[in-house]
Amino acid sequence: MISKQMQQEIAGSSAIRAMFLEGKELARQVGAGNVYDFSLGNPMTPVPEEFTGAILKAVQEEGSLELHGYMDNAGYPETRKAVADNLNQRFGTDFTGSHIVMTVGAAGALNVVLKTLLDPGDEVLVLAPYFGEYRGYVANHQGVLREVKPNIPSFQPDLEDLENKITEHTKALLINNPVNPTGVIYPEETIQKMAAILRKKQEEYGHEIYMVSDEPYRELAYDGRQVPFLTKYYENTFVTYSFSKSLSIPGERIGYIAVCPGMAGCKEALGGLSVANRILGFVNAPSLMQKAVALSVDARTDVAYYDRNRQLIYGRLTDLGFTCVKPQGAFYLFLKSPDPEEGNFVKAAKKHHILLVGGSAFSCPGYVRLAYCVSYEMIERSLPAFEKLAKEYQGQLT
Ligand SMILES: Cc1ncc(COP(=O)(O)O)c(C=O)c1O
Repeated sequence: MISKQMQQEIAGSSAIRAMFLEGKELARQVGAGNVYDFSLGNPMTPVPEEFTGAILKAVQEEGSLELHGYMDNAGYPETRKAVADNLNQRFGTDFTGSHIVMTVGAAGALNVVLKTLLDPGDEVLVLAPYFGEYRGYVANHQGVLREVKPNIPSFQPDLEDLENKITEHTKALLINNPVNPTGVIYPEETIQKMAAILRKKQEEYGHEIYMVSDEPYRELAYDGRQVPFLTKYYENTFVTYSFSKSLSIPGERIGYIAVCPGMAGCKEALGGLSVANRILGFVNAPSLMQKAVALSVDARTDVAYYDRNRQLIYGRLTDLGFTCVKPQGAFYLFLKSPDPEEGNFVKAAKKHHILLVGGSAFSCPGYVRLAYCVSYEMIERSLPAFEKLAKEYQGQLT
């Protein structure tokens, strides 16, 4: 029999995945063109040609043993150097290749960092609403997850609550910027304030409190907004990154961890990350993807595509009377549920073949998330269904 723990995991399994599967079933029943599936953050833009070219080049030019063999658990030196140089050029940082550990996406990166940091019972603070998978990642390493409240309606973190939630057991603050599910970007001023709070608490408790910055949506920022690069504000920082969204390759599982060179015990931390990569069973990040990333480090997806979707869906939903914070980055929109029971609203939307994910999955009941990484045409087709949904809730839309 499988473990009791896993039985619980299965029972509480991802609401996002469940909705994605329901969408597939609904599409079978009513036809794919009649289903408006906003459930999953699966990128929609084409993989940049530069990246596809880099894969072909790597396959053609590398010896197969080198390309497909084991390597240092932290990754190929040339890939780590290419990532470090690219970050330095863009953010004025001073990484060398040795500060970079290549990982199996951001999910792998987060698990590697948490495995390296946590002793049983150590607390990890997260800023609600947050990517629900964090619960599993923290539990994997016997950590205890503590939530920090947002300020509503801005969905910026409540910094007073952050300060109050830090205890002597706090090991890390895990932040995600731009944020899944709200699309909000935490600006420099907020980051500086968070860094000041952590510094003060480090001093008070006499041990490190780390910042872990989860940044798979870093490149998806709109209206010329900048996403602050956290090692510049706080030395005890791990940046976890994924190429899933910036290159539209979530199935390829490639990302990295960048460790701030000024971190206390930086060398030991880097050693820990390598060992964690190995003993968690990742061993190393996928080799072909590492080669391709190194050869096309500036390749980017078409951010304008998502921006166009953002303008359309945000504009139309707010015209209809729905309330939400205007997304500044990523490809999500967090809508206030007109029914205090968000589950009822999700069900009502489903009747019109609109698939949404309830905010409870992100520890923020009373809201729903729409992933607008879909085709523009699908959004256009969905608008009459949203109109009908808005009519049903007339008088309740505030
Ligand atoms: C906030 C956040 N962190 C981490 C991940 C995991 O990224 P990856 O699948 O690239 O590992 C995701 C994926 O959607 C995410 O939204």
